[in-house]
Amino acid sequence: MRFVILGSGTGSNAKAILDAEKAGSLGRAKAVAIGADREDATILDHGAILDIPASFLHPGPFKTKLEGEAEHSWIQQICQWKPDLIVLAGLLRVLKPPFIEAFHGRIINLHPSLLPAFPGLHAIEKAFEYGVKFTGCTVHWVTPTVDAGPIIDQALVPVANTDTIETLEAKVHAAEHQLLPNVIRRLSLGDIPLA
Ligand code: GRF
Repeated sequence: MRFVILGSGTGSNAKAILDAEKAGSLGRAKAVAIGADREDATILDHGAILDIPASFLHPGPFKTKLEGEAEHSWIQQICQWKPDLIVLAGLLRVLKPPFIEAFHGRIINLHPSLLPAFPGLHAIEKAFEYGVKFTGCTVHWVTPTVDAGPIIDQALVPVANTDTIETLEAKVHAAEHQLLPNVIRRLSLGDIPLA
């Protein structure tokens, strides 16, 4: 199962996925490329872990969405990588229906809350400020409504009374680093069917 990782930032989840593949614990999944919508995104550095291409994909004129010519060129570039799966790991950009249709049923996203609670940006802070006693992370299929596609799997993170926003963030990220590689492994082995 060939997959492409798309992100915008640090790429700690991309690193966790590629480290898992390197360690032989990603089933039949094979990372083939990383794409980022920011030229300076650290996620691009992680291509070196498995010596796969890591490319800046020009995002076009919009700050928060991918549309028009840029969307078209992303589709073309990603098609050349021939992915069976696209993994959104911190992509801070809304994908529109033409992109989602081009890779119908083959895009998954990682979100740092127990969806449907706290969709959108700053999910960990929102959960912390709300005072929930449990939060976590979710991997779901991507549909045109942001953070609302069918849930594939979730991991639970209890919030301790002593937690600060920083300690809670660290716990949620640690849970993500387990959950996302595990979902990719299960998809590659057919334990979770590709749509
Ligand atoms: C993660 O918390 C993910 O849930 C969210 O963006 C963050 C990406 O972190 N969508 P990283 O770039 O993988 O370190």
